[in-house]
Amino acid sequence: MRADRVALTSELVRQMTTIANEPVMYDASYRRHLHGLPVTKEQAERFLRWASDTWRGTTQFAFLLLDPFEALAGFIFIKSRDPEGAEIGYWLSAGHAGVMTNAVLALAEAAGEAGFQALWARVQEGNVRSEAVLLRAGFTPLGVAPDPEKGHALFSRYHLALTATNEASQPSRVRRRAERPEKVEP
Ligand SMILES: CC(C)(COP(=O)(O)OP(=O)(O)OC[C@H]1O[C@@H](n2cnc3c(N)ncnc32)[C@H](O)[C@@H]1OP(=O)(O)O)[C@@H](O)C(=O)NCCC(=O)NCCS
Repeated sequence: MRADRVALTSELVRQMTTIANEPVMYDASYRRHLHGLPVTKEQAERFLRWASDTWRGTTQFAFLLLDPFEALAGFIFIKSRDPEGAEIGYWLSAGHAGVMTNAVLALAEAAGEAGFQALWARVQEGNVRSEAVLLRAGFTPLGVAPDPEKGHALFSRYHLALTATNEASQPSRVRRRAERPEKVEP
């Protein structure tokens, strides 16, 4: 759901604070900036306000992923309005693993309909779960380069052309969980 359409309640702030302090999330997004200190309620609220405010401008577009009980499950956003290739970013609560590939596919469909011709994503080297999301969603790896925002760290860049998904003849690639292939037990 568009982040500006979700009510900023104290419960939402509590959920955001909990998720931001989950180990995988904390390491990926906060540890470097907070030097190991926990994410506070105030910082979580500031993030949610920022996500909502992206819709006041025209350069970034943030969505909150809510579970069937309307609890916060994750976040996905388009970081620019460059129609030739806008970067995306995302995260998911550990308690809701398994929905990010579909969220990326849904975002790609919406972005194609809105006129974006391509999306790209930057993944820190070693973040295999995020790389798996992008590969499942049809992104192509473009190689590894130094991350301009993180000094010596390396990141892989992934690219998705959207023109083909604009054609009315293309079926949606977003898959229901029931359509996921069953794991074959040995
Ligand atoms: C990156 C991140 C979102 C990945 O979450 P995830 O739960 O592993 O990813 P998904 O939601 O796509 O779920 C993966 C699982 O669901 C399955 N799945 C999900 N959607 C599917 C689909 N449409 N079709 C087939 N399988 C699917 C996958 O096969 C996979 O199963 P497995 O774990 O048994 O192999 C999560 O680890 C995270 O938030 N990390 C911290 C922040 C971060 O790193 N963000 C990215 C920065 S670039």
